[in-house]
Amino acid sequence: MAAALEQPLDEQHEVDLKPTLGRLHLIALGIGGIIGAGIFVITGHAAASYAGPAVVISFAIAGLGCLFAGLCYAEFASMIPVAGSAYTYTRATMGRFMGWFIGWNLVLEYLASSATVASGWSGYFTDFVRSLGIALPHAFTSAPLCVATDPHCSTYSASASALDAMAHIGTTGAWVNLPAIALVIAITAILVGGIHASAKFNNAMVVIKLTIVLLVIVLGLPHVVPANHEPFIPANTGGWNFGWWGVLRASGVIFFAYLGFDAVSVAAQEAKNPKRDVPIGILGSLAVCTALYMLMSYVLTGLANYKTLNVPHPVSMAAEALPATAWLAPYINVAAIVGLSSVVLVLLLGQSRIFYAMAKDGMIPPLFSAIHPKFKTPWKGSIVTGVVSCIMSGLLPLDVLGELVSIGTLLAFVIVCLGVLILRVTKPNAIRPFRTPFVWLVAPAGMVVCGAMMYWLPPDTWARLGIWTAIGVVIYFGYSIRHAVPVRWHIREAAE
Ligand code: ALA
Repeated sequence: MAAALEQPLDEQHEVDLKPTLGRLHLIALGIGGIIGAGIFVITGHAAASYAGPAVVISFAIAGLGCLFAGLCYAEFASMIPVAGSAYTYTRATMGRFMGWFIGWNLVLEYLASSATVASGWSGYFTDFVRSLGIALPHAFTSAPLCVATDPHCSTYSASASALDAMAHIGTTGAWVNLPAIALVIAITAILVGGIHASAKFNNAMVVIKLTIVLLVIVLGLPHVVPANHEPFIPANTGGWNFGWWGVLRASGVIFFAYLGFDAVSVAAQEAKNPKRDVPIGILGSLAVCTALYMLMSYVLTGLANYKTLNVPHPVSMAAEALPATAWLAPYINVAAIVGLSSVVLVLLLGQSRIFYAMAKDGMIPPLFSAIHPKFKTPWKGSIVTGVVSCIMSGLLPLDVLGELVSIGTLLAFVIVCLGVLILRVTKPNAIRPFRTPFVWLVAPAGMVVCGAMMYWLPPDTWARLGIWTAIGVVIYFGYSIRHAVPVRWHIREAAE
């Protein structure tokens, strides 16, 4: 039976990436990628601007969409346990062009969000260092370019829409965001050094951030002020602000907080027992984080009034609101610094593995699939990925990229849910070590919830998605179509 389950990969698989990750490593990888800027920064904005205390419901909605997509990812990951995640699944079910299309969107999820989180990390780090009495100069701690929606920007206009923002790039007076670049360089070095070292580093960071998140919840729950939760769903003030519409918009906005769980499937080729452990890693990390997010947002909006939470450090600010939790504030900031570092690690790891899979298929240059003879990591791809992330986080205005990240990822989730259904019809006898339960309900529900979250995002993100796709199509027809090779594996069916 065991032999029948073997995936017929090419021999290259045996000598390529090193399979060293167990199931706890994989769950930690998921949590490492998930808990970060979303809960530590964006929750405050989502509660203050859109949902109020009902941001708890927004977390439940976004978590449900991710659960449906996660169940579909788990089925694919158990059938096709190679690096590449949604890119690989889409190529298997919908062909080369759609594979490229999703791979290109995953670049947004991983590369652009690694830069976004690194730049958020720089803000926390600079503040932390300042609290120790060391003031780092603004010129070297901020990106030089900015957009018109940023109050510190030379082109700032209070009435600018996000699209105007793109058309009016300005300057902040700073030169370069050095802390963000330093973080990305350090993490790239760890990633080149080996998957095992990276996983160990990640585990340590996950333990620290989980401890602090749990402390905030456990110490904060008894001190929740009931008046702060009244009304739980504030009345709609027009458009997408508050009321149920606000709850829905907030679920699209805080979706960013869940991003990263799919990185577990990206590392499938480095798992010891991918068919069993990758589904456990995906679903386990998602379940843990959904529960923590709902509890944490309940506590935050209970400790401080939601109207006060639109600040860069909402969690420590909420803790400071009451004497019983105020002592936690500095530790929360340290946890955010640690937590955001592990998110950058997992995202950069994911991006290098997706590039690796795409390069193996000839979609992008072979440089990206070169494996280091000693470390067994796609080192050249990791370095190129790190350099691009450095440039983006060091120089570019990232608030615009942030929303693009979510829409690109949601699109990938919709396609993965569709892909599972397609494969159930086209290959009903394929060996599926993990089967999505109630697939004809779960996969369409995943498509509806993730599609709806795309719809709930601000409309100009759609325009940006169109521009990103157009660039991808040019690269596909200019390079990939001429260099692509047939896939090196096939999905094994029961009769084989
Ligand atoms: N989910 C990750 C974060 O919140 C990307 O930082």
